[in-house]
Amino acid sequence: MANTSRQLPVSVLSLNPAVDITYQIPQLIADQKVHASDSRYDPGGNGINVGRGLKRLGVQACTFCVVAGEIGRFLRHQLDEQLDQASYLEVDGETRVNGTILESVTGAQFEVSGVGPAVSTPQWQHLLDRFVTHGGKGLGVITGSLQRSLPQNLYAEAVRRVQGAGGRAVVDSHDELLRHAIEAEPFLIKPNRFELETLVRQALKDQRDIVRKARQLQERGVTWVCVSLGAEGALLVTPSRVLKAEAPSVRVISTVGAGDSMVAGMVALLAQGASEQDVLREGIACSAATVMQPGTELFDRETVDRLRGKVRVIPLSL
Ligand SMILES: Nc1ncnc2c1ncn2[C@@H]1O[C@H](COP(=O)(O)OP(=O)(O)OP(=O)(O)O)[C@@H](O)[C@H]1O
Ligand SMILES: [Mg+2]
Repeated sequence: MANTSRQLPVSVLSLNPAVDITYQIPQLIADQKVHASDSRYDPGGNGINVGRGLKRLGVQACTFCVVAGEIGRFLRHQLDEQLDQASYLEVDGETRVNGTILESVTGAQFEVSGVGPAVSTPQWQHLLDRFVTHGGKGLGVITGSLQRSLPQNLYAEAVRRVQGAGGRAVVDSHDELLRHAIEAEPFLIKPNRFELETLVRQALKDQRDIVRKARQLQERGVTWVCVSLGAEGALLVTPSRVLKAEAPSVRVISTVGAGDSMVAGMVALLAQGASEQDVLREGIACSAATVMQPGTELFDRETVDRLRGKVRVIPLSL
């Protein structure tokens, strides 16, 4: 990872970042106040997480974020240390706040996602212009969900813009946002199994089924389809082969951020022109290292370095 001189440019889009508040409590009790034993504030949102992951891997990347109000100012302050480069678009309103409650008695986790600020069409178009210009012929990472007020085909437009400029778009989203984005023929998508099943409106019973559906998506113009399978690892279907990577067996503390870490790892190696095997291996190593961390905390690089050699990538003849 040390050689960044020949690295392709990387842009990450984050139209709806958040401040995450996590409370650790014994247990929720209706109509009673509970005192937290710990509370913390972290930057949140999928794009932000990918940007943070890339920085940890020593990759140069610019994350393009919408921020609003005092919470936005607080978020920017937090992000200063956590992103390699950031480009902000200030809008009216307030950056959203997401709440997570971790119950120590039950081990349950409750999450509420807040409402983000309104972003007008000229505003998001402007951010998209900057995102595409920076990414150039490199990689444009488009992840997560959007404010409800924004058009469902926004990610499709982002994919077209990235690839129209000669770059490659990487999409990790779901439902209609993903469905539209696929019409724009992105280079890589990374649905989890459930997101793929939702997309194809069908339960997928085994690897063969998953690979068949991935190939159908390739016929519709997606170049690489990576389906993440939680503890089972992931399948990567490229035009030339099918690769299966098994996740190393690790002590799972919190799976929050696993998908974002996987995207960060894959993008990092794509930006360095690595092989398909190595791209997949890095995604698995980064995500497995993240599930070993508490709460929203992402992987640390030493753990990724240690796990990388333990990831088995096997070609499948399906
Ligand atoms: N229990 C686990 N043990 C080891 N690795 C795991 C485990 N759960 C997830 N991972 C790693 O994280 C990757 C992504 O996980 P998953 O398929 O759950 O993605 P996701 O649903 O998109 O995650 P997220 O909820 O963060 O969006 C997996 O391919 C695997 O490498
Ligand atoms: Mg995901």
